[in-house]
Amino acid sequence: MSRIAYVNGLYVPFESAAVHVEDRGYQFADGVYEVIAVHKGRMVDADPHFDRLWRSLAELSIDPAMSREALAHVLLETLRRNRLREGILYLQMTRGVAKRDHGFPKEPRTALVITARRGGRPSPKGMEDGVEVLMVPDIRWDRCNIKSVSLLPNVLAKQAAREGGAFEAWQVDKDGFVTEGSSTNAWIVDGDGNLVTRQLESAILSGIIRLVLQDLAASAGIKVIERAFTADEARDASEAFLTSTTSFVLPVVRIDGEPIGDGLPGPVTKKLRELYDGHFEGRGRNSP
Ligand code: PDD
Repeated sequence: MSRIAYVNGLYVPFESAAVHVEDRGYQFADGVYEVIAVHKGRMVDADPHFDRLWRSLAELSIDPAMSREALAHVLLETLRRNRLREGILYLQMTRGVAKRDHGFPKEPRTALVITARRGGRPSPKGMEDGVEVLMVPDIRWDRCNIKSVSLLPNVLAKQAAREGGAFEAWQVDKDGFVTEGSSTNAWIVDGDGNLVTRQLESAILSGIIRLVLQDLAASAGIKVIERAFTADEARDASEAFLTSTTSFVLPVVRIDGEPIGDGLPGPVTKKLRELYDGHFEGRGRNSP
């Protein structure tokens, strides 16, 4: 079956789906995006994804292309036309097409593109063996809470990880504190079995799995401490893991080639993964 993409009001064949050369997303990275998991034909945790999208748009003064209800409808229609029940949805809103000029256009018309694809699930091997991360300097801007399509530093960080044989790069700020991965949030388990993850601020993205996991951990009696931790603290942690829509909860067992603890996925991480898997299986709350 051929894939279908949604581009500015039209459902078009994926192979020929295209935006104008003067789309400001293409020329200035002037736009935002979301990646939403699809399970049993439904969006997982659509509400917090929509909340974050609306926050990102407001931060950049980009008008939403449509109402939340209309967007949910178009996303679900894209799934239907692709006959997709398991996979991921990608959506991107930009400040639209205008003559190239850095300042905002006078009458911007927000552009919306949606694609859907199979896959986007963590490999079982990653859970069994755990993954390695490399520490890299965080060279991003001061507004990483916005889910902007401007991802060049993240691209370079991920590529550095790949070239170093690692799964992910953890970015470290000028004071030696880990911010987050190139496309994931970063967590460690401290000596008392508490979870530690960086506080929400402009240095990190408010991950949806991060949010969901905080609730799941609390209901299982596991304490979450939101604070910055250093790269050295991560190396000495009893466990470490990362979270994202496409990684779920993934154990980190090596940092820069050195094992964390005994170099195997730890019990707290395994428990959290079980909790998240259960949540995902139930398709989450509030899913249209
Ligand atoms: N990335 N931090 C960054 C920089 C991210 O790009 C992402 C998501 C996350 C985790 O957010 P969430 O739990 O909502 O997936 C944290 C997506 C998956 C991507 O760019 O493909």
